[in-house]
Amino acid sequence: MSRVKLVVANWKMYLSIHEASLLTHRLHKSIKTHRNVEVVLAPNYLSLQPLSQEIDRRRFRLAAQDGYFVDEGAFTGEVSLSQMRDLVHYAIIGHSERRRFFQESFDETRDKVAAAVRNGIVPILCLGETKEERSQKETKQVLHDQIVTALSNITSEDAENIVLAYEPVWAIGANEPASPDTIKEAVDWIRYQVRELYGSKTEESIRVLYGGSDEPEYVSGIMAIDGVDGLLVGRASLNYERFSDIVTGVYLAALGETKE
Ligand code: 13P
Repeated sequence: MSRVKLVVANWKMYLSIHEASLLTHRLHKSIKTHRNVEVVLAPNYLSLQPLSQEIDRRRFRLAAQDGYFVDEGAFTGEVSLSQMRDLVHYAIIGHSERRRFFQESFDETRDKVAAAVRNGIVPILCLGETKEERSQKETKQVLHDQIVTALSNITSEDAENIVLAYEPVWAIGANEPASPDTIKEAVDWIRYQVRELYGSKTEESIRVLYGGSDEPEYVSGIMAIDGVDGLLVGRASLNYERFSDIVTGVYLAALGETKE
């Protein structure tokens, strides 16, 4: 199955506007255009506008890290997905840091997914269990609940374009990613849920990423897992050399090769 591979740089709440521009400039120099790999940068809201003018769109696309689900209104401090519709191609939705630090509920995540789709933005829906849920053997139940709720207002046609990202909370900001076996089991389960909801055509189109302590040395192992189409990268995406190496690794995986 040849789905276009996807690498997303989640810069989280790092980098000033100036630093984001500088990093983007370096990435332009170090990352080549690869036909089968899409590279997406997710800066904070402030940098979206300047970066949209600086990036070579044949090489990079932009993503928001979040976005409010009401299109406009009296919601001080929020930025709506509708307001970002001409700036971004993607939006990260339901990141565990939103759920954990900002009490984002399943219903809010669901409404954000729907708002993104309504505004022509592709949601990158984050899924994943906490350490505690894992130790209680609740991983499958948690992933099921997250998927079924978040996609409950999405048609099968729209679902084909959505990106899902398996990001086990315990592997974010950790020393190493989840093991290939763990990722495989979760991704298989996620794909099974999509098949149950929408059928196999949608499941075959949908892209599933892995996120959590991605670094260049782990890329070939993760990308060799059947059903994984790319990476959602945190820390390593703030360093142009590490991120470029990750993109190269994904490209080599797309070619069916492995980096030495
Ligand atoms: P790290 O790559 O820093 O573990 O972060 C992963 C993440 O949260 C990406 O969204």
